[in-house]
Amino acid sequence: MTFEQWMRSVLDRVESALEQYLPATSTEPAKLHEAMRYAVLGGGKRVRPLLCHAAGELTDAKAGSLEAASAALEMIHVYSLVHDDMPCMDDDELRRGKPTVHVKYDEATALLVGDALQSQAFVALTSDVLAPAQQAALVRELALASGSVGMAGGQAIDLASVGQTLTRPQLETMHRLKTGALLRAAVRMGALTGGTPDANTLQALDAYSAAVGLAFQVVDDILDVTTDSATLGKTAGKDAKDGKPTYVSIIGLDASRALAAQLRSDAHDALAPFGARAQRLAELADLVVNRVS
Ligand code: IPE
Ligand code: IPE
Ligand code: MG
Ligand code: MG
Ligand code: MG
Repeated sequence: MTFEQWMRSVLDRVESALEQYLPATSTEPAKLHEAMRYAVLGGGKRVRPLLCHAAGELTDAKAGSLEAASAALEMIHVYSLVHDDMPCMDDDELRRGKPTVHVKYDEATALLVGDALQSQAFVALTSDVLAPAQQAALVRELALASGSVGMAGGQAIDLASVGQTLTRPQLETMHRLKTGALLRAAVRMGALTGGTPDANTLQALDAYSAAVGLAFQVVDDILDVTTDSATLGKTAGKDAKDGKPTYVSIIGLDASRALAAQLRSDAHDALAPFGARAQRLAELADLVVNRVS
């Protein structure tokens, strides 16, 4: 199977899983459920589900279990995007090529969409396609990665840093939390969904995720200045306009590109112990760094 064929089949299964794990619009409150589905379905690169599936191949995880874990990861991610776009945060009007949730609906709905997606992620993660011990392990991974020592903490640093010049270590910490934590969780959850990975496996996967997670946000910062809004599906040039410290603002465009290339190579090195079994993870590291949106 080529990488494109593999991606297509994972993306199709993830889309169906999200359909299934989101409440139907026929369920009350219909408007909230419609807005949740508007935010989640039919858009986005689904990088976290792809990482989860690729890591699951290392531990022979079952498809249904990976689908539940992936749906949970994507719901947390979309919740973070919906809130990130609100006027009290980045105040963005375009996301995934469509009006943001607070623009299409209203601010209170956007707040509730985020809240409800966060809860629904844990409903998906505790469905009976996963054994109880796995559910507990996965819930802990996702909760830690999305809370104040993960994504939400990174977002707090991001907002507190507007107009400031961060040192490189401070910038790296912010990126590792706001973006890296959930990507790391995607990889760990994929592996934990199969057998119980040994310490060496988890250590190698963490080294891989550290590189890919940071690379992902470095590239996000690069694309914000190099790509147009139509290609990105979100407003380009927003970081500089808002005075956000980014890799581009702190080390410049060329050094940011060089860093992304170095991190891609670090990610590949981390996968060496797995040989050909980690092919999809290696291809995803390339995708994260070479993407155009
Ligand atoms: C954007 O994430 C926000 C960041 C964490 C940098 P993605 O680039 O994964 O957004 P989608 O899911 O493809 O829309
Ligand atoms: C957002 O970072 C990270 C999260 C949503 C957790 P950004 O603010 O850079 O993401 P975009 O560029 O709006 O997608
Ligand atoms: Mg932001
Ligand atoms: Mg933003
Ligand atoms: Mg950005």
